[in-house]
Amino acid sequence: MSKKQEVAEQFGDRLVVIDHPLIAHKLSVLRDKRTPTNIFRDVARELTMLEVYEATRTLPTTSIEVETPLATTTCETISGREPVIVPILRAGLAMQDAFTTLIPTAPIAHLGMYRDEETHEPIEYLAKMPPYIAQRSVLLVDPMLATGGSLIAAIKTLRDRGVKHLTCVVMVAAPEGVQRVFEYDPDVRIFTAALDERLNDDAFILPGLGDAGDRIFGTLAIND
Ligand code: PRP
Repeated sequence: MSKKQEVAEQFGDRLVVIDHPLIAHKLSVLRDKRTPTNIFRDVARELTMLEVYEATRTLPTTSIEVETPLATTTCETISGREPVIVPILRAGLAMQDAFTTLIPTAPIAHLGMYRDEETHEPIEYLAKMPPYIAQRSVLLVDPMLATGGSLIAAIKTLRDRGVKHLTCVVMVAAPEGVQRVFEYDPDVRIFTAALDERLNDDAFILPGLGDAGDRIFGTLAIND
């Protein structure tokens, strides 16, 4: 059994690999190395919107009475306060707009983190959190889950601030990283558009889509 199959079976209910033709199609555009930055950004936003739809499926609702032009009826509305959206900089910024389009009043908290190119360890350089974050659900957002180091560091930062209900939304995940994240914190849920095969020797996801941050911000070395 491949690592991918093993991880998919082991974490079935906590790991949601969203199976949908629109997501599959948009992901194929993102994976294609010929896709230019402007298209990459647009499609990343569209794909994230589809993921938001799935990742917010269990938000609690409350019944309210609404008068339509013809009758009074009972409708469901989102109950409680909005979740806080936490994009991990830089690449998570490409997903932020999709969340705020669908949950316009959700607060945004930023976590700045980059992976040291030699050690692959995450280095945190920004944590801008609202003081009430412990009282809200949190949606932690980053396109790539490779070794899991960045996500684990972000989860630690949020748990240290008292966050209890935590959902991670990524686009592409490596089985090795998923396993590490669940070993660190068995209570998170991960939504992803794809569970890929494995990491290469440079800790890049295979087949993956390359360096998401560089493709989103047009900072690929090839453009020099
Ligand atoms: C990428 C990606 C994740 C991280 C994933 O960010 O956006 O944050 O690497 O790798 P990991 O699971 O092994 O930690 P990067 O460090 O390239 O920073 P950037 O978003 O600023 O480009």
